[in-house]
Amino acid sequence: MSDGATGWGEPLYERVLAGVPEGASVLDVGCGPGVFAAFASRRGFTVTGIDADRSAVAAARREVPAAEFEVGDAHQLDGSFDLVALVQVLAHVTNPLKVLKEAARVGGLVRATVWGREEESDVRLFGEALSPFLPPRGARRTPAGPPPLTEPDRFRKIARTAGLEVLALDEVRCPFDYPDEDALVGPLLTSDIGRYAVNAAGPAAVRAAVLTTFASRRQGEGYRLWNLFRVLDARPA
Ligand SMILES: C[S@@+](CC[C@H](N)C(=O)[O-])C[C@H]1O[C@@H](n2cnc3c(N)ncnc32)[C@H](O)[C@@H]1O
Repeated sequence: MSDGATGWGEPLYERVLAGVPEGASVLDVGCGPGVFAAFASRRGFTVTGIDADRSAVAAARREVPAAEFEVGDAHQLDGSFDLVALVQVLAHVTNPLKVLKEAARVGGLVRATVWGREEESDVRLFGEALSPFLPPRGARRTPAGPPPLTEPDRFRKIARTAGLEVLALDEVRCPFDYPDEDALVGPLLTSDIGRYAVNAAGPAAVRAAVLTTFASRRQGEGYRLWNLFRVLDARPA
């Protein structure tokens, strides 16, 4: 639920690039519209970005003319880079193990970020605010399969299985700033669970519940949430 917040990624990007010498080559896998690529490029890194989404690649090219961007698949990487960065990508690919194996094959260093557990971040408050309007948890579908990479032990294990030596798995807290109530509530109301809640209780009741839940996160005219991410720091074993 980050659509209304901007600029939150900088502490994460700092950690991804920490200690890597200026001028080093960086492959930004799953670059999206180029926010991390722009940050790395401003810091003097030589950035190549790939993403499966053609429109994201076009946006990244406009955003960061100094970097190279291509449409590509994270499961099949080309070239050789000082650093392979996987910023908020592993939860979106079909096979995170294969992606990490590819990163280990083409990167001297691999740094990959994921969300922390739900209970470690203020983002959980969105679910708490809506829970009175949703079916009881037991009645909701829970995803099948192995535990997600938000579990640090599983993240370490999959990295080792991919042929990486884990140097660190650090926690980074990022401030999510919402300039006003609409920025906080608007994206939530148009999400799947938000629409469900609005259908059940109406927009005014849902908005009031969200603002009450977030009252303690008020900062000036807006809101500040703190969300936790983990950054895997690894190199080919
Ligand atoms: C949550 S976004 C993160 C974007 C960017 N790294 C950032 O932090 O702003 C996930 C990105 O992964 C891309 N993606 C998903 N599967 C992919 C794949 N198999 N190969 C390359 N990119 C992929 C999506 O198109 C999307 O841009």
